[in-house]
Amino acid sequence: MARFALFSFFLAALFSMVLSAPVIRRAFQELAYADFQISDNTAGNAEALANAVFVDPFAGQDLATVDAATLKAVQTMREAAESAETGEFNPAISAATGADAAALSVGKTQNKVLKLTGEVQALNIQLAQAKAAGKSTTSIQSKITAEQTKLTNNITADKANAGKASKGVA
Ligand SMILES: *[C@@H]1O[C@H](CO)[C@@H](O)[C@H](O)[C@H]1NC(C)=O
Repeated sequence: MARFALFSFFLAALFSMVLSAPVIRRAFQELAYADFQISDNTAGNAEALANAVFVDPFAGQDLATVDAATLKAVQTMREAAESAETGEFNPAISAATGADAAALSVGKTQNKVLKLTGEVQALNIQLAQAKAAGKSTTSIQSKITAEQTKLTNNITADKANAGKASKGVA
């Protein structure tokens, strides 16, 4: 009896450990810019941070099955990152000097990686959906190629900044 009690206790403990284990893949959810921006950081890791926002939540999912509201949320967040660049980073960099200006500029590059990752992800969803619907993919394909090139260049720029202080605008 005591053994059985101990065994059930062990099972219960094991079960609660499994339940409380961190969930690796979260479903994608729309967030405000301040809650998903990646620029208040040390540079060099923007690719992984941006993927955690826009790509990892869709891991293992057929992108053709992403619903319209979710695609819209990806695009809205991508636009928020773009507005932060033109509306916040550019004026903040112009107004700042020295180390502050340098950190903001490093943060702007991280934000470009974020923005472009969102853009490429939205295009990849549209590509999968166009393919599934038997529609032409030529124009989406060429946009992906163009945006992916910018993304790759900005990831390289962020890696070149590795270890430098980075400052955001939210
Ligand atoms: C970074 O991304 C921008 C678009 O936001 C692009 O114009 C630029 O060529 C990219 N590459 C570098 C190295 O900045």
